[in-house]
Amino acid sequence: MTTSTPRRRETNDQARHAASEELMLITAGFWSFKTLAAAVDLGLFALLRDGRCLNRAEVAAELGIPDRPADMLLAACASLGLLRRERDGYTNDDLAEDLLVPGRRRYFGDFVLYADRREYPAWLSLGEALRTDRPQTWNPDEQETGYAVEDEVMTALFWNAMHSLSSSTAEALADAVDLGGHRRLLDVGGGSGAYSLELCRRNPELMATVYELPHVCEQTAGRIAEASLEHRVDAVAGDFRAPGAALPAGHDVMLLSMVLHCFDEAACRDLLRKCRQAIEPGGTILISELLLDEDRGGPPLAALMGMNMVVESQGGRNHSELDYRTWLWDAGFEDAEVVRFRGAGANGVVVARAGARP
Ligand SMILES: C[S@@+](CC[C@H](N)C(=O)[O-])C[C@H]1O[C@@H](n2cnc3c(N)ncnc32)[C@H](O)[C@@H]1O
Repeated sequence: MTTSTPRRRETNDQARHAASEELMLITAGFWSFKTLAAAVDLGLFALLRDGRCLNRAEVAAELGIPDRPADMLLAACASLGLLRRERDGYTNDDLAEDLLVPGRRRYFGDFVLYADRREYPAWLSLGEALRTDRPQTWNPDEQETGYAVEDEVMTALFWNAMHSLSSSTAEALADAVDLGGHRRLLDVGGGSGAYSLELCRRNPELMATVYELPHVCEQTAGRIAEASLEHRVDAVAGDFRAPGAALPAGHDVMLLSMVLHCFDEAACRDLLRKCRQAIEPGGTILISELLLDEDRGGPPLAALMGMNMVVESQGGRNHSELDYRTWLWDAGFEDAEVVRFRGAGANGVVVARAGARP
């Protein structure tokens, strides 16, 4: 008793200390994010690319910042696993080398910059979003949607950011789902075309159409040309929310990536019905999303993306696997199954087949 009691107290104390440390890490979450955003903005990872190793004085000189902040920025980036200590300096760790060097196909930096310039300021009024259930990045009294053509900040940042987020996620989806045997993909609300481009690279028989709002198609066409895939991928302008609008016909596979979480249940059901009406008999639908757990207790990325939708959208929220299964069945899709994978923009894809029912 005399020996075990102190040991037990020590263990309990350790757990209590660890709990406060955990809370501190959550509280300081924005320190990590802002450190990453500043490093991307300053060009730190571009500077240390391809194994280049610089000491702190050299980094300070190259970035044009004083010694003390350079010292702390380098230490913080190393602590976050973005940089690695080498000899007497620092170089990019693998994660930064792969995802944070501008120009790389999986470049993630444009999403970081969007989060910093558009989302972060809006999250400052998260309380207002929670109290009023109104988006904070745009004003529903002045714009019809968050994707309006007159929103210049959005036009400048958002679709580049989506390309940045989706390029690596599209690789994860392409690894998880075999589209062999499919001929024509309709990428509904396909944004920059990141998924269409990756799926066509992986499936030599596949052709794809990105269906997007007219003012987005120009950016999409630029990405398609950049990938030299104009002969297999095109962009078609349309508005799937326009009353009576029909999606283009002639496709045996449709993808909705990060589209349905932008909308409420009624709008999701309406869009799935439009997909069912346009898809070829027996065709496959894919819903790629950060799926919320059935018990609505996680996972963190899906639940927190839901919070982001409170800040950025009117009616958007992250839905669960069961939500999608139910709506797909009601829209006339069958045999729904979920393929799980890990990615920045999705943790799984719901796959279903257009059934015989109308
Ligand atoms: C969150 S983004 C996802 C983009 C892309 N699917 C991806 O995962 O990278 C949602 C997309 O839906 C498009 N969108 C929203 N409303 C639309 C509408 N009414 N008609 C066509 N596209 C729309 C937006 O322009 C935007 O590119």
